[in-house]
Amino acid sequence: MVEDQALINRLGFNNHGSDTILNRIKSNKKLGMLGVNVGPNKDSNDRLNDYLIGLEKFSEVADYITINISSPNTENLRNFHDENKLKELLKSISEKKKQLKTEIPIAVKISPDINENQIDLISEILLENDISAIIISNTSEASRETLQNIQRHQKGGLSGKPIEKKSNLLISKFYNLIKGKIKIIGVGGVDSGKAAYDKFLLGADYVQLYTGMVFQGPNIAGMIKKDLKELLIRDGVKNFTEIVGNKTVS
Ligand SMILES: Cc1cc2nc3c(=O)[nH]c(=O)nc-3n(C[C@H](O)[C@H](O)[C@H](O)COP(=O)(O)O)c2cc1C
Repeated sequence: MVEDQALINRLGFNNHGSDTILNRIKSNKKLGMLGVNVGPNKDSNDRLNDYLIGLEKFSEVADYITINISSPNTENLRNFHDENKLKELLKSISEKKKQLKTEIPIAVKISPDINENQIDLISEILLENDISAIIISNTSEASRETLQNIQRHQKGGLSGKPIEKKSNLLISKFYNLIKGKIKIIGVGGVDSGKAAYDKFLLGADYVQLYTGMVFQGPNIAGMIKKDLKELLIRDGVKNFTEIVGNKTVS
C-alpha cells in the first residue's frame, strides 16, 4: 500500500523446516549478528514444545533467539501473551537453556495490540524469567481507519508507517517499567534516521525494520546510519546510547 507506506501480510510461518534452515545457516559465511526467530507450527499438538525444539536447534548457530508470540497469522498464537501461558513458556525455556548448558540471550517479540494491564503483566513476567530483550513490536491487526489504500481491510498483519506511533508508545511504556534491566528492540515504521532516533529517545536500545526495506531497498540501512550520525552531531551527542530514554510520550 504505497500511499500508506505500509504492507498487510498474511504469510504465516511457511518454510522448509528447521533442519533445512539450520543447514543453510551453517553453509553461509558468518556475518554480523544473527538472531533466529522461532514460532510453533500452526497444526502442532504441542506448541510450547515447538519453541523448545527451535531453541535447541538454533542455539548453536544464533547469537540470540527470538520467541515469537505475536504473529497474527498463526491462529491463537497471541494467547501466549496470557499470564499463565507466558509464565509456563518462559519457565520451560529457562529450564531448556539449563539442560542445554547454553547462555544464549532470549528476546520475546510482542504484539502492538495489547492493553495497559498486559503491559504491566508482561514486564513483570519477563523480569522474573531472565529475558535479555523485548522486541516491540510485531504487525498489527488493528489500526486500519486512517489508511488510504482500498486493500486496507484485508486480513493479516499491518506494518510500516501506520504502526509507528503505536510501537513508539509501547516502547515508552515498557521503558518506564523495565528501564535498563531488559534491552528494548524497537520495530515498526523505521524508514529513516529520524524514525530510528525517535525510537532511541523513547527507550529503544536497538532498532529493526522490515517494511522500510521493501519500499527503499537494502541500502536503507546505510542511509539510516548516515542520517542518524548527522542528527547526533546536530544535537552534540557522541554515542546514540546517550539519548536512550531521554524523552517520554503519553
Ligand atoms: C512480509 C512480512 C513477514 C513477516 N514475518 C515475520 C515473522 O516471521 N516473524 C516475526 O516475528 N515478524 C515478522 N514480521 C514482522 C516484522 O518483523 C516487524 O515486526 C513488523 O513488520 C513491524 O516492522 P516494520 O514496520 O519495519 O515492517 C513480518 C513482516 C512482514 C512485512
